[in-house]
Amino acid sequence: MCMSGKTKMAKITSGVACSHAPALGVASDSGISNDDYYAPIFKGFEYSKEWIAKEKPDLIFLVYNDHCTAFDASMIPTFALGCAHEYPPADEGWGPRPVPVVKGHRKLSAHIAQSLILDKFDITIMNEMEVDHGLTVPLTMMFGRPEEWPCPVVPLAVNVVQYPAPLGARCFALGKAIRKAIESYPEALKVCAFGTGGMSHQLQHQRAGLINSEWDARFMDLLINDPEQGCRISHVEYLREAGSEGIELVMWYVMRGTLNEDVNEVHRFYHVPASNTAVGHLILENR
Ligand code: DHB
Ligand code: FE
Repeated sequence: MCMSGKTKMAKITSGVACSHAPALGVASDSGISNDDYYAPIFKGFEYSKEWIAKEKPDLIFLVYNDHCTAFDASMIPTFALGCAHEYPPADEGWGPRPVPVVKGHRKLSAHIAQSLILDKFDITIMNEMEVDHGLTVPLTMMFGRPEEWPCPVVPLAVNVVQYPAPLGARCFALGKAIRKAIESYPEALKVCAFGTGGMSHQLQHQRAGLINSEWDARFMDLLINDPEQGCRISHVEYLREAGSEGIELVMWYVMRGTLNEDVNEVHRFYHVPASNTAVGHLILENR
């Protein structure tokens, strides 16, 4: 209780969209983020590191997808909410990334799980979960290489790996329900929502390396200025215009749903190529 007798509530004040290409994590971990190939990409996040150091969120709600790491093909939840005390980086084939263990916030997770399920979003509850590059790379891009991550993270894993992935409109609606959940939590927490993945993105077969910068720019404009329209982009359009893994972009709509209708675009960065894909990054603040 504060002096006025009113309980302070958690509040979502900003959103970050960020690609999560694993090569960026490897570049950071192996100390080559300053070489000719990676320097222009990491430079695009210099402002972001300053911004987040000033913004100082108390907690990050991070939307990402697991890439057959925590979940193998035997079980693929559509929406899985992290409700654990901590989330160890997963071994993705070359050992776990040498980054800090991600600390959670169990009480807030439990509150969000209850609020979402009573709000008819039947999410999966993850009391244990290892996290892959989908979650750790955006933390690296925003915070660099700290001893400990500066704040706890509540993760939400979205299935975009096996058809059928959820629609953008469902992700947008879920984002709104997440906002309602977080902003009914009685603790003065400043929360930043992350949506990760994308952008143009095809890792396999004949169109591998597909980049559609025009479409990516339009996607960002719609996400910011007309999300009600943008969240209706069809699965076929993602596939055709942004490639076979372009569907990762529906996760940006969960983040967008947690924000006000009107947001300020504080920062935009776009770079091609990074490994085989386009790096896209936005910082949005509630107006
Ligand atoms: C790449 C990007 C991804 O999002 C991913 O999960 C795997 C690879 C890439 O850019 O290579
Ligand atoms: Fe991915």
